[in-house]
Amino acid sequence: MQNTIDHLQCVSCKHTFAEDEIDYTCPDCGPLKGTLDVLYDFKQVKKQLSREKLAANREASHWRYLPLLPVHNQAFIQPLRVGWTPLVRSARLSSELELKDLYFKDDSGNASHSYKDRASSVAIVKALEKGYRGIAAASSGNAAASIAAFAASAGLPCHIYVPKSIPRAKLAQLNAYGADVILVDGPYDEAFDLCMREAPKNGWYNRNTAINPYLAEGKKTGALEICEQLDWNAPQVVFVPVGDGCIISGVWKGFKDLYDLKFIDSLPLLVGVQATGSAPLVKAYRQGAKIAETQQAATIADSISVGFPRDQVKALRAVHQSGGKFIAVSDAEIIAAQKKLPLSSGLFVEPAAATAFAGLLKLQREGKVEASDTVVVMLTGSGLKDIATFLDSR
Ligand SMILES: Cc1ncc(COP(=O)(O)O)c(C=O)c1O
Ligand SMILES: [Zn+2]
Repeated sequence: MQNTIDHLQCVSCKHTFAEDEIDYTCPDCGPLKGTLDVLYDFKQVKKQLSREKLAANREASHWRYLPLLPVHNQAFIQPLRVGWTPLVRSARLSSELELKDLYFKDDSGNASHSYKDRASSVAIVKALEKGYRGIAAASSGNAAASIAAFAASAGLPCHIYVPKSIPRAKLAQLNAYGADVILVDGPYDEAFDLCMREAPKNGWYNRNTAINPYLAEGKKTGALEICEQLDWNAPQVVFVPVGDGCIISGVWKGFKDLYDLKFIDSLPLLVGVQATGSAPLVKAYRQGAKIAETQQAATIADSISVGFPRDQVKALRAVHQSGGKFIAVSDAEIIAAQKKLPLSSGLFVEPAAATAFAGLLKLQREGKVEASDTVVVMLTGSGLKDIATFLDSR
């Protein structure tokens, strides 16, 4: 397989970097404004990837899109389940919500049961390709569990910074995968900063969201799959739960890559859904601000309890470019959505994932979703990740 990556580019100053010149963010713009896009030579990609080739490809994982992923040494790909997850059409909910087609992209079946496996599967390849002897991440829980699984598979020491309020199932995963866990007596935002200081001191590859440019590449594969599963049609609207904003940025990158490659001929509108108690991007979007104000985050949806979104520049850009919007839903709406979804579709998801569905229910109630639209809701984590919140809210 020939290299398809052309260069990396700073989202703010547009300075370009060769791949081996830089690991994280633009030195001039810093870790918040200087996140990098990974850009491909589409001529090379087209030589290796076509809709016809994909139709004949039996690889049932997101590695089916290898020419659009930042991998040079395939020997470092771990044999864990990631991607090519079901796109479930719910006849009951399509009919109840009076929508032509309502689909759920169900990522609970990935190796560690969340969408984060798409990013971790790529991050572990990059850590090994770059020759690091350890990997570190701060996380509200899912990214941590995910990278711990992939690190265990690769035999790479893994160092994890998480808030001590992490749901027990996620802590159990970290222990099971043998990660070195540092429980931080503070919110996720503090864990993030601690990992930023400790990773370089110890020579660990940093899988912190946003500052690592390759995570969005892994996270874009959900969008590639949705379009292929819809016979190379883009949906009209996609609902994405948002904390740091890396998933929504990645999903947008996936749709854009396919559009630029002419695999699809339209782009969806993205709706980023945050919890009211943790909604800095909703506020920034409404005010037309380029940078979000920090907020004291408080929501039952632990995975998206983020006071200072680290991928905010790309996330705001994604929503603006798509012509979509950011909206907020209350914890009560999240709990109601988390209960309604399994009852009517058989899909049981954690509160953060239910947030995206709560966003759809809200816009539908307000009459803001077109009945003729094909709508996709990203279900980013399994309901078994946090059973306490579910049981306590009954
Ligand atoms: C289940 C789940 N949904 C949504 C998100 C939000 O992703 P992001 O922080 O990239 O916006 C996360 C992040 O941890 C998550 O674990
Ligand atoms: Zn820059």
